[in-house]
Amino acid sequence: MFSPISDQGFPALSKLSDHPPVWVAEDVSEALDFYFKQFSPHKISILADTNTSEFCLPILKSKIKSLENAHLITIEAGEASKSVDSCAMIWKELNKNGTDRKSLLCNLGGGIVGDLGGFAASTFMRGIPFIQVPTSLLAMVDASIGGKTGINFSGIKNLVGTFQQPAGIFIQPGFLSSLPEEELVSGFAEMAKHALIEGGDHWRKIMNIEPKDSKELRNLIVESVALKLSITEKDFKESGLREVLNLGHTSAHALEALYFSAGKQIMHGYAVAAGLAIETYIAQHLKTGLSETEAEHIRQFIYLKIPSVSFDSSQIEALIDLMDHDKKNREGKIRFSLLASIGKPIQGCDAPREVIRNAFNNYLADVSHP
Ligand SMILES: NC(=O)c1ccc[n+]([C@@H]2O[C@H](COP(=O)([O-])OP(=O)(O)OC[C@H]3O[C@@H](n4cnc5c(N)ncnc54)[C@H](O)[C@@H]3O)[C@@H](O)[C@H]2O)c1
Ligand SMILES: [Zn+2]
Repeated sequence: MFSPISDQGFPALSKLSDHPPVWVAEDVSEALDFYFKQFSPHKISILADTNTSEFCLPILKSKIKSLENAHLITIEAGEASKSVDSCAMIWKELNKNGTDRKSLLCNLGGGIVGDLGGFAASTFMRGIPFIQVPTSLLAMVDASIGGKTGINFSGIKNLVGTFQQPAGIFIQPGFLSSLPEEELVSGFAEMAKHALIEGGDHWRKIMNIEPKDSKELRNLIVESVALKLSITEKDFKESGLREVLNLGHTSAHALEALYFSAGKQIMHGYAVAAGLAIETYIAQHLKTGLSETEAEHIRQFIYLKIPSVSFDSSQIEALIDLMDHDKKNREGKIRFSLLASIGKPIQGCDAPREVIRNAFNNYLADVSHP
């Protein structure tokens, strides 16, 4: 479905899309330099977190002259920074730096920096240009693509946000060398989700790689990005097709909320992996067409590659109650995006509580008796 477009100006780069331009390269500085010269922003600000300012910023700055005098805005690493307070701090900093609509915000970081910076930029002065330079695997293949920005509000994730495409996305897989291993595995779960949606060769390749081997992962980043692009370009505002990207996520969000309510956190990707496994059972119960062989195949792959999520069977009713509040629900029904087969996703499937309860129990039985 996809072949990288090799742009004549940058033979070493892959340009995966034009609107916005999406570049993937071992070194994106050439593309970034070209972009800065073409656009010549009045002011440049860089948003980074406490980790990416230490590990990624020096790499970027050493290569790109235009960034020498950029104004650095730093947030604490972690989900707590995706808040209205951090956003207000960024607006203040942008204002202090004399930012206008011909200025630019460069978001250098994982999904937190990208979502928060994208939101701050898309609302400051009714919208200033921003670019995404993702540094976590999850942000490279998922969060930086598709133009969703946002912050958490009133204890609800991504409650406030915008749909706003960045002016460019610059993906340099080399940044992954400083990413903690569990973050790599977490991002791998989203790559597995993309591969399940696409099927074919993409899925075969994913099945055969080791998530902790960042070299192997890098080769698959292009395919993963291309899959997300192909869907979000067709349905930017999630009025239908884009919902397939929620595969595994109805269960994942409930698990994350359960942990959150107990004052604990789990890696998003681990919750997604559990969700992918749980929802194969739901697909089977609802007879979407997913065969026993494929469902078993998916589950074994997940159990082998990604750590499982622990919860107790007494918490299943609470998990289903949490699903009742999912943004995707319609008319009080709990909705899932499921697989009819590997490579054939379907969206908008309603599942009764009984089916969801069984699926959680099946998962628990699987992971407690490997
Ligand atoms: N906008 C979207 O479409 C979309 C899609 C998926 C997820 N998200 C959002 O993304 C966020 C999660 O993103 P994430 O998993 O990237 O989390 P994150 O931004 O917190 O990054 C994970 C951790 O890795 C660190 N880090 C990032 N890159 C690094 C590097 N190269 N070297 C060393 N450390 C590095 C960060 O400082 C952080 O501690 C969530 O808030 C989620 O809601 C958004
Ligand atoms: Zn996700």
